[in-house]
This record gives sequence, structure tokens and C-alpha cells, in this order.
Amino acid sequence: MRVAILGSGRGSNAEAILSAQAAGRLGRARVVGIFSDVADAGILALGPRFGVPATFVDPAPFRTKLEGDGEARFVAAVSAVHPDMVVLAGFMRVLKPGFLGAFEGRIINLHPSLLPRFPGLDAVGQALRAGAKVTGCTVHRVTAVIDGGAIIAQTEVPIGEGETHDSLAQKVHAAEHALLPSVIARLSGAGAAA
Ligand code: GAR
Repeated sequence: MRVAILGSGRGSNAEAILSAQAAGRLGRARVVGIFSDVADAGILALGPRFGVPATFVDPAPFRTKLEGDGEARFVAAVSAVHPDMVVLAGFMRVLKPGFLGAFEGRIINLHPSLLPRFPGLDAVGQALRAGAKVTGCTVHRVTAVIDGGAIIAQTEVPIGEGETHDSLAQKVHAAEHALLPSVIARLSGAGAAA
């Protein structure tokens, strides 16, 4: 199962996926390309480290969504690696019908809350401000409804007394790093990762 990863930031979840692959814990999945809309994103530095092509794709002309010329460039670049699955690991743009249609039924997203609670931006901050006692992370299928596709798997993270944004974000990230590779392994048809 050929996997393309899209991300905009640090890439700690992409690193967790690639580390799982290196350790033989990614089932029949194999990462064949990393793509970012941010030229200096940390996620792109993983390419040389793990021997996977990593590419900046110009997302212009829009700032928060992928549409028009930028969308066409992403569709072309990602199509070129022939992915069976497209994993959004911190890709911070809203996808539109051109990209969604090109990879229909093959796109999954990671979100730092227990959806349907706290969709959208800063889900960790939303959970703290709501006074929630528990939050977590979700892997779900991507549709035109933002953070709204079918849920595949979730992990709960308890929110402690005096929890800060940083401490909670760290706990949610740790949960994500375990959840996302195990879901990819399972979807590859090879059983859960160890
Ligand atoms: C992750 O926490 C992911 O859940 C979140 O971005 C972070 C990326 O971290 N995604 C979203 O908020 C999407 N709406 P990383 O670059 O270290 O993997």
C-alpha cells in the first residue's frame, strides 16, 4: 500500500510513521512521498533522513485553502507517486473538490481532539477553554465537511489539574504518534502494529 504524507509543520507524526516503517511496524504500507505547502517546514527534512522524496509544492494563490492553481499542482505532484492512501499529518489547509475528487475514499486525517468535539483550529486550546476532563486524538476519513468524515479510530487523553496548553499538546502528540501508524498498518491489511 503506497502512502503519501501531507503536512505543514514540524512533522512529528510523519516521523512516527516513518519510524514505524523502519521498525517493520507499518504492515504492508510504504511511504512513497512527503509533500508540504510550507517551504521550510520540518516535515520536509524527514525525506533525506528516511530516504523518501520530500517536496515543497507551491499552494498559491490562497492562504488557508487549497484551490485553483495550487490545488492543481498538489494533485499533479501527489498523483505522480500513485498513492493508495493520502495521510494528512498536520496539513493545515482546507481541501476542496479538485483534490478530494482526485483521491476519493483514500484520504485520512489526524485531528487533535475526540471528534466530533472541538473541530477546526487549536483543538487543544478549545478543550482547555471548555473545561473538558478528557480530550484525545482522532483518525478519520476526509470528506468535504471539515473534520467531519467517518471516524476510524480514537485515543483518549485525560486532562489533569493545572494542565497547560504545552503539557496537554505534548500528551496529545504522544497519543497521536502511537495511533496514526497503527491505523495505517491496520488499513494496509496487515493487522495492528505491535
Ligand atoms: C498534530 O497534532 C495534528 O493532529 C494537527 O497538527 C499537528 C501536527 O503535528 N492537525 C490539525 O490540527 C489538523 N486540523 P506534527 O507536524 O508534529 O505532526
